[in-house]
Amino acid sequence: MKSSSEKIVIVGAFGRLGTELSLHYGSRVPVVRLGRKQLDLADESSIRKALEPLDFTLLFLPAAQTLVDRCEDEKEEAYQLNAHAPGIIAKICTEKGARMVHFSTDFVFDGEKDSPYHEEDATDPISVYGASKLAGEEFVLAASSDHLVIRLSWLFGPAKPGFPEWIVEQACSEYALALPAEKRACPSYSSDIVSLLDPLLFRPQESVASGVFHLSNNDDCSWQEWGQECLDLAHEMGHALKTHQISATSLDTIQAFKALRPVNSAMSSTKYTRVTGVTPRGWREALRDHFFVSAKAPQACL
Ligand SMILES: NC(=O)c1ccc[n+]([C@@H]2O[C@H](COP(=O)([O-])OP(=O)(O)OC[C@H]3O[C@@H](n4cnc5c(N)ncnc54)[C@H](OP(=O)(O)O)[C@@H]3O)[C@@H](O)[C@H]2O)c1
Repeated sequence: MKSSSEKIVIVGAFGRLGTELSLHYGSRVPVVRLGRKQLDLADESSIRKALEPLDFTLLFLPAAQTLVDRCEDEKEEAYQLNAHAPGIIAKICTEKGARMVHFSTDFVFDGEKDSPYHEEDATDPISVYGASKLAGEEFVLAASSDHLVIRLSWLFGPAKPGFPEWIVEQACSEYALALPAEKRACPSYSSDIVSLLDPLLFRPQESVASGVFHLSNNDDCSWQEWGQECLDLAHEMGHALKTHQISATSLDTIQAFKALRPVNSAMSSTKYTRVTGVTPRGWREALRDHFFVSAKAPQACL
């Protein structure tokens, strides 16, 4: 990668994606890792105090309020963390002549489309989380059109337990499991995502990429299919599962959800492939690596 002259800051360096970004860049270039203790997104003076003294060329912002249902109850907090804070950080980056890579979500869409969403499709979030993240995208790109917004979906990886760990744990104790069959999205392996960023970020000056990009593993699947693949891999690993089959249910039967979820939020990565020439690998292969190659494979009932 042509990043030897980069000085990188990661805000939210200890989350699922932040940890992966730290590992990916940490051995190659100077990286300043900021967690909540060093920079609180809720507090503008904390943001300024942490960032203004630093000298950097590239800043990643994986930190966010990612608790989708909490955002419905704590709307002000959601907008502060997901919209205003990214806007302040983007302005600081612009003032310093640094590029910012901000991470957003498939929840900016209403989920009514019957095929994968492209970057130019109209956004229409149906949750506070989605609306706050969309406002964050707008603030970041208003601060400089050179900044990048990467929309992700169904993120999983070794740094922090996520859906694969949760569904395997459920199958270790429950005799029946169901997941929405109509809900579709694209699983995204955090280790793949950080590697896929390189060809987008480190390009010849005349073809620098900016603006909004969708990025995930290929292709989309239903939530039920994603859960089933997790159980099939867990069974292959030797987990003592009590349930081997995920049956179908629908989103509106899940009482625990306060926030509405988009039914179809599959996103196409074709713009990414057109610009970089790189096609993300399939989500099943990435998930297999998470179970069999990663040091942090789901362990619930081995
Ligand atoms: N997870 C998904 O399925 C998914 C899907 C689509 C898009 N995304 C987007 O991808 C990005 C990364 O997601 P992720 O799964 O890696 O998130 P994550 O693991 O939940 O990490 C979020 C990070 O934000 C930090 N944070 C929260 N509140 C903060 C505050 N007030 N000040 C400073 N830091 C704060 C958290 O710190 P603590 O550990 O101290 O709480 C955590 O390290 C986010 O922008 C998210 O919206 C995620």
